[in-house]
Amino acid sequence: MARIVVVGSIGMDLVTTTGKRPEPGETVLGTGFEMVPGGKGSNQAIAARRAGGEVEFVGAVGDDRFAPDLRRVLSDAGVGAERLRSLDGSCGIAAIVVDSAGENSIVVVPGANGRMTDLTAEDLDTIAAADILMCQLEIPAETVLAAARHAHAHGTVVLLNPSPVQQLPPELWEVVDIAVVNEGEAEQLSSALDTVAHLVITRGGDGATYRGPDANLSHPGVHVDVIDTTGAGDAFTGAFAAHWHEGPTTALAWGCTAGALATTKLGASASIPNRTDIERLLAEQ
Ligand code: RIB
Repeated sequence: MARIVVVGSIGMDLVTTTGKRPEPGETVLGTGFEMVPGGKGSNQAIAARRAGGEVEFVGAVGDDRFAPDLRRVLSDAGVGAERLRSLDGSCGIAAIVVDSAGENSIVVVPGANGRMTDLTAEDLDTIAAADILMCQLEIPAETVLAAARHAHAHGTVVLLNPSPVQQLPPELWEVVDIAVVNEGEAEQLSSALDTVAHLVITRGGDGATYRGPDANLSHPGVHVDVIDTTGAGDAFTGAFAAHWHEGPTTALAWGCTAGALATTKLGASASIPNRTDIERLLAEQ
């Protein structure tokens, strides 16, 4: 079983559903509202755990009314949350609008995630003891860099999902072993990704591709009825990481299948599939 540590974000998703997402200046009527725990870090940690990994989460909640639910979603999923700190002030939130095609628009307000500027000695020990470190960009880039450098120095594989996309210092790319990006991120980051040994590009309903030192691979899209694409990339990344030790072909298949299943339900963490469901759909392919 892969030992994975996620250093990343956790927050509450405020999800509205509507027939059509509003244009600038437009008001539209919604059809529903739900609060669902999310944050790319937490989603990926839960996805890796549900796909069969042993997972520790390093992150931060605030001290507002969302904090207890955010803590609970990790413990209910079996993700280790000993390294989840409580900081003064608000938790991270994301305002999400999902339309009838399942496509979304998201505004993330980092809250406590943006205040996660320090890694403790215990955090660093957890990173050094893991097989894989997974990071995203909803916490400060300096924290990601510190985690990645420490992982690299201790032989822990560094997987970066550079989302929300931003230009990063070259010294971060130097210690990234695996990058998982969507097509838009691949285009924006372009040559920065050239030095990454293992590059995975997720292609929505068209599956995903992998470029590595020994192979170029692709996995086709998995057909499902799409309700909400929020968190599909996180489900992909977590499942991919949990099966990375079985090689890129297997990891891609797990990622694509988990990502597809995550689109069949509303909400990020709520839609992440468990191992049995992924295995069943894998067997059908
Ligand atoms: O990737 C999906 C996630 O992005 C949501 O859960 C939301 O919290 C945003 O961070």
